[in-house]
Amino acid sequence: MRNLIDILDLDVREIDALIARANDIIERPDAYREICRYKKLATLFFEPSTRTRLSFEAAMLELGGQVLGFSEAASSSSAKGESVSDTVRVVSCYADVIAMRHPKEGAPLVASMAASVPIINAGDGGHNHPTQTLTDLLTISREKGRLDHLTVGLCGDLKFGRTVHSLISALSRYEGVRFVLISPEELRLPDYIKQDILEEKGLEYLETESLEEVMPELDILYMTRVQRERFFNEEDYLRLRDSYILTPDKLSTAKSDLSVMHPLPRVNEISTAVDADPRACYFRQALNGKYIRMALILALLGL
Ligand code: NCD
Repeated sequence: MRNLIDILDLDVREIDALIARANDIIERPDAYREICRYKKLATLFFEPSTRTRLSFEAAMLELGGQVLGFSEAASSSSAKGESVSDTVRVVSCYADVIAMRHPKEGAPLVASMAASVPIINAGDGGHNHPTQTLTDLLTISREKGRLDHLTVGLCGDLKFGRTVHSLISALSRYEGVRFVLISPEELRLPDYIKQDILEEKGLEYLETESLEEVMPELDILYMTRVQRERFFNEEDYLRLRDSYILTPDKLSTAKSDLSVMHPLPRVNEISTAVDADPRACYFRQALNGKYIRMALILALLGL
C-alpha cells in the first residue's frame, strides 16, 4: 500500500506514468467509466476547499466509484476532540482510499501511520500540496510539451504558499529548470527550501521583488494568493495582499507562449481582464486537476 504525502514520494518515472494515464483518460473517457465500481473515496477536509475536494469527488464519480466525507472540521468528531489517527483508523473501515486536508503541517503523515488504506495529502498547512503539483505538472506538460528547460516564475506568497513548495520540489528534478522567485521581502521562499532543494542541488534561481523586470524571460508565470489564514495579524495581510496584480498591460512584455498559471482561488492577484488572454491557463489547470486525480486514485488502488 502506498500513500502520497509529499510529491517526492513519487519518482520521476511514476510522475510520467500518471501524466500518461491522465492523458489517456482525457482521450478515452469511456474506458474508465466503471473501473472503480464498488470502490469508495473518503474526503476528510479539516480546512476549506472548493477545487481540491470537488475535483477528488468528481474524479472518483467519473471512475464509477462512490464518495463520502466531510468538508469542515466542525462537522466531524475532531470537534469533540478526536485525534486524526483515530479518525482515519475508523474511516479506513469505510473507504478504500482517503484524501485529507488539514491546517496542521504533518497531519496527513501522522494519519498515514494509523490508516490501513492509502492516504493522499490534499494540503497540510503551509507545508505541501502534492496533488496540486501533479495538476501543475500535467498542465505544464500539456501546455509546453515538456517539463524541462523552462524558466519558471513563482510570484506572490512564497512563504506560506504550499503549492509553490511542492512545485519547486517536483521541478527541481528536471534538467534546465530555472526558478525566478518573485515576492515581497516578507513573503520570500523559506530558507529550508532554498537550502535543502535549490542550493543542495546547485539549481539556478533568482530572487526579486519586481515582476515587471523579469516578465520577458519567463516561460511560466505561477501566480499565488497571499495566504490570509496563515498570517498572525490582519494588518500585515492587508499591507501585502495587493503586492502583485497581473494585468493585460503587464503581460505586454511577456513571451507570446508564456503560460500563466494559478492554483486558484484567486483574490486580486490576476485581473479578470487577463482571463481572455490565450496565455491564461488557470481554468484549464483546474480541469486537469480532475484528470490527474483520476490517474492517482487508480494508481493507489492498483487499478
Ligand atoms: C491552494 C491551496 O489550498 O493551497 N488551492 C488549491 O488547492 N487549489 C491555493 C490557495 O489556497 O491559495
